[in-house]
Amino acid sequence: INLVFIDSTGERREISAAEGRTLMEAACLAGIPGIDADCGGACACATCQVYVDAEWQSRLPPVGNPEANMLNFAANRRENSRLACQIRLTAEMDGLIVSTPEFQF
Ligand code: FES
Repeated sequence: INLVFIDSTGERREISAAEGRTLMEAACLAGIPGIDADCGGACACATCQVYVDAEWQSRLPPVGNPEANMLNFAANRRENSRLACQIRLTAEMDGLIVSTPEFQF
C-alpha cells in the first residue's frame, strides 16, 4: 500500500509499505525522518507520534487504552495525534496521509 508522510517543513514523501506492518515500522524502514520510536514499538515512549490527515482520522481504528495513555506524554500533542506503532497497516489504509512533528520531545 502507499503511504504519504509530510514533514514539518512541508516536504512530502511517498512510500510503499506491506500490510501487516505498523505505520512506525514502515516509516523507519523507509527512512522517514521525524519518527524516533525510542521504545521500538512497545507503546512506551510516544516518540512515534504522527498527525493524521483530517480525511483519514475517522478511517483509522480508534485509539486504544495503551495508546491513549501514552499520547498524554507526547510533545506538541494535537487532537489528531496518533502513535504510529499502534497503527497496523491494512489494505484500507492505502493512500494514508500523516504529518510528522518537528520534534518528538
Ligand atoms: Fe514507542 Fe510507538 S514506538 S510508543
